[in-house]
Amino acid sequence: MKKNKVFVACDSTNISRVKNIIKKTQNTKIKIGYKFGLEFLNSKNGRSFVSKLKKKIIFADLKLHDIPNTCVSAIKAIKDLKVNYLTIHVSSGLDALKAAKKVSGKTKLVGVTILTSMDDKSLKEIGFTKNLKKIVYDQARMANKAKLDAIVCSAQEVNIVKKVFKKEIITPGIRFNKDNNDQKRTLTPYQAYKNGSDWLVIGRPITKGNIKENIKILINHLDQ
Ligand code: C5P
Repeated sequence: MKKNKVFVACDSTNISRVKNIIKKTQNTKIKIGYKFGLEFLNSKNGRSFVSKLKKKIIFADLKLHDIPNTCVSAIKAIKDLKVNYLTIHVSSGLDALKAAKKVSGKTKLVGVTILTSMDDKSLKEIGFTKNLKKIVYDQARMANKAKLDAIVCSAQEVNIVKKVFKKEIITPGIRFNKDNNDQKRTLTPYQAYKNGSDWLVIGRPITKGNIKENIKILINHLDQ
């Protein structure tokens, strides 16, 4: 049977802690990749640690959001890391997405739609007047137009994205219980896969507390 796939968000500035996350999340039931974001990659030794990681699926969650020239330059600047996945905000615009795709090479370029920490109310506050689902749909169409390799959206919008985007769908905002932290659009791992997510991104529900125990909870939850 095909394994479920999870990117574990290594959100820390502490190398030992990240090593521990990597060690304790090893298992035979779920395919694990590691996501390094703004916190770890900007920390003193984070970048160099990632450059030395071997035989791991690596996701650099840089969430580029800039003019085309700067997005292109940033992608060139991290070429040496040879990461498998790299994120750019779809709201950077079609020109930036197309330009980024031209230089991303073997790295899969992932378009981030509306953050899972936002809801309709928070979108209105930053001046978006369309409803959230419509914006995600429109951004998925843009990602398709720019030939991006994957999309990040909430697991609640996978069906919408699938209408216009046929490649990989990656969903953060995954929760085993009602403890949402700062996330607004959440679903359980089981529901997320059922909706058609290819990869889940899970941070705190795995990395806070007993990591091995949390992985067991995840595996049991998926076996339901
Ligand atoms: O701890 P938690 O499971 O909420 O972590 C989610 C991770 O996914 C964080 O690293 C966050 O930066 C990232 N992410 C997200 N929502 C997006 C894109 C990325 O939560 N739309």
